[in-house]
Amino acid sequence: MPKYTVVAMPGDGIGNQVLPEAIRVLDAVGFDASYVHGDIGWEFWKKEGNALPDRTVELLARHKLGLFGAITSKPKKEADAELSPALRGRGCTYYSPIVTMRQLFNLEICVRPCVGFPGNPLNFIRKKPGGGFEEPQVNVVVFRQNTEGLYCGVEWTSPPPAVRDALATHPKFKPFANVKGADLAVSVRIITRPAAERICRAAFRWARKYGYKNVTICEKPNVLRETSGMMEDAARQVAREFSEIPLWSTNIDAQTMWLTKNPEDYGVIIASNLFGDVISDAFAGLVGGLGFAASGNIGNEVAVFEPTHGSAPKYAQLDPPIVNPIAMILSAAMLLDHVGENQKAERVRAAIADVVREGSVRTYDMMRIPGGPKAIAQGAASTTQMTDAILARLQPAGTCDKVGAAR
Ligand code: NAI
Ligand code: MG
Repeated sequence: MPKYTVVAMPGDGIGNQVLPEAIRVLDAVGFDASYVHGDIGWEFWKKEGNALPDRTVELLARHKLGLFGAITSKPKKEADAELSPALRGRGCTYYSPIVTMRQLFNLEICVRPCVGFPGNPLNFIRKKPGGGFEEPQVNVVVFRQNTEGLYCGVEWTSPPPAVRDALATHPKFKPFANVKGADLAVSVRIITRPAAERICRAAFRWARKYGYKNVTICEKPNVLRETSGMMEDAARQVAREFSEIPLWSTNIDAQTMWLTKNPEDYGVIIASNLFGDVISDAFAGLVGGLGFAASGNIGNEVAVFEPTHGSAPKYAQLDPPIVNPIAMILSAAMLLDHVGENQKAERVRAAIADVVREGSVRTYDMMRIPGGPKAIAQGAASTTQMTDAILARLQPAGTCDKVGAAR
């Protein structure tokens, strides 16, 4: 019996192309696991009215570890139009299965490393004051609160009378009080102190474990005084337990400007759900973009690892596939770290680093050419060729003793 069973949920579009590549790499490093397939995504919304079927939830509850590719989500009207005719009018509502999964299993800690590989032509560079260019080493890990905030799902178009009445008790609601029901949309931003403290503590622990020099709470407490205020407050509280690590505080808008001025100054960044989603993509853009952006969704019992990109439908039908599997493979390396197989994880990252540094095998995104059927003819590696290159550079076990910062 293998030591681990991993629920493999490729989902939609390119999720089906990149997830098998990650499993090839996990097998090659000798990860002692078997994989069970988990249904998830648009197909199951259309056929069953549920993009995250109960059987997949049961698999995750049983096996505790998941690898997820990507899903397609579409706006409300399109979702309703694509639902199987037999299910229409039966009260099915589309919910993003990955957001649901995070809430269902309380995968409240989202870890998103944004670490540049030397030699990546997509790395951020800037002009030096005296002429020429420099490439700052970006090594940031975003800790995104994954279950609350603006993504908590408490929202209405045309809120029911009880909600309107409750909102009307707030003096700031006055300008909206006479807006007609169907013209009024409300999304609620909920932050709870215990969850805010847990994401902050997880971030500080990571900083201590991997030697990051600072932790930044990235919110907007000057305007969002209650919710961002509570996040900021929690960060200050928790920071007292980690007196050797300075806590910085930035506003989300200013942070998106500063990240291209002095990205090398930041270490671990904490943010609530939406701000964490935004700032992690922004930092990912400095280190190669979506083809390099990995993440872990960590709960007390269950953990699911996924690239932060989506299903990229426009590339999903290409044969051979052209998308970059590195984000998915780095996510699998995070899974290895999570279960304590750090040396295997490090071997995977070292092999990726070698491929990127050598530069002879690059997917289309790394060449800055348009994706599409012509990319291969223009010299881009296919998805499988990129994985083959990584596998070819994997060092045997025992040769990679240095366990560096998890990427
Ligand atoms: P996307 O991330 O799927 O793709 C945006 C663009 O990024 C692509 O067209 C492609 O140019 C590039 N890209 C993405 N992954 C890449 C890779 N591995 N290698 C090279 N290039 C890559 O975002 P988009 O187009 O906004 O959304 C498409 C669908 O994915 C939507 O239905 C959206 O709701 C869903 N989505 C799902 C996510 C998830 O499953 N966690 C996250 C983001 C979007
Ligand atoms: Mg995102």
